[in-house]
Amino acid sequence: MDKKILRQLSYGVYAIGVQDNGRPCGCIVNTVFQVTSENPIVAVSMNKNNYTWELIEKNKNFSVSILSEQTRKEVIQKLGFSSGRDNDKYEGIDYQLKEGLPVLQEQCCGAMLCKVVSVTETPTHMVILASVEDAFAIADTVPMSYRYYHEVIKGGAPKNAPSYVEPEEKEEKQVLGERWICSICGYVYEGDLTKEPDSFVCPICGVDKSRFVKQ
Ligand SMILES: Cc1cc2nc3c(=O)[nH]c(=O)nc-3n(C[C@H](O)[C@H](O)[C@H](O)COP(=O)(O)O)c2cc1C
Repeated sequence: MDKKILRQLSYGVYAIGVQDNGRPCGCIVNTVFQVTSENPIVAVSMNKNNYTWELIEKNKNFSVSILSEQTRKEVIQKLGFSSGRDNDKYEGIDYQLKEGLPVLQEQCCGAMLCKVVSVTETPTHMVILASVEDAFAIADTVPMSYRYYHEVIKGGAPKNAPSYVEPEEKEEKQVLGERWICSICGYVYEGDLTKEPDSFVCPICGVDKSRFVKQ
């Protein structure tokens, strides 16, 4: 099987918003698609280890904010590379509460409020079907595609993303023992990071060299 073909599937970039006893929580997903048009239903694939899934399972509702090409990269880094179990991910992010659910502003195109209809379990992810209870426009912007996120923003996705791809093995294995850790996503760079050009970005989360810490 040529698994590379799966990389040709197209996606967008979305923020799922959930409530944690009055505290806004949620995460970034690329897997939202519309399943039916009348009485619209959408599907989302959510990793079982995500705190967001725990909260969706408990509350049975969530918001979907549609990120645009103008949405700040930091929003994706905050919501997509750390867990709401450990920190307040919405701190410093522009959002509004709708029916108690956080809805991103941040130049998003629009948002939906969704109610869980059914869930299908796979070994790693829960596939959630949810009815769209409300939908509204936010800004007149172009939705961010997954390809734009990778190619223009130069961002990556963590292992929890269903479309995760292992970074390419470095051609020459460094044996010097020097290691630099990305403080945002934990990616390990082996070798002398100072020799990389200033344009170097983390292949997983896309932050620049200054966010790496030497081990
Ligand atoms: C671009 C991008 C796409 C992602 N897509 C998904 C996805 O479709 N499903 C998923 O479960 N996690 C996805 N993730 C990973 C979650 O956002 C990430 O694991 C997050 O830290 C979970 O936070 P939580 O524990 O607060 O729920 C994606 C992350 C990024 C950056």
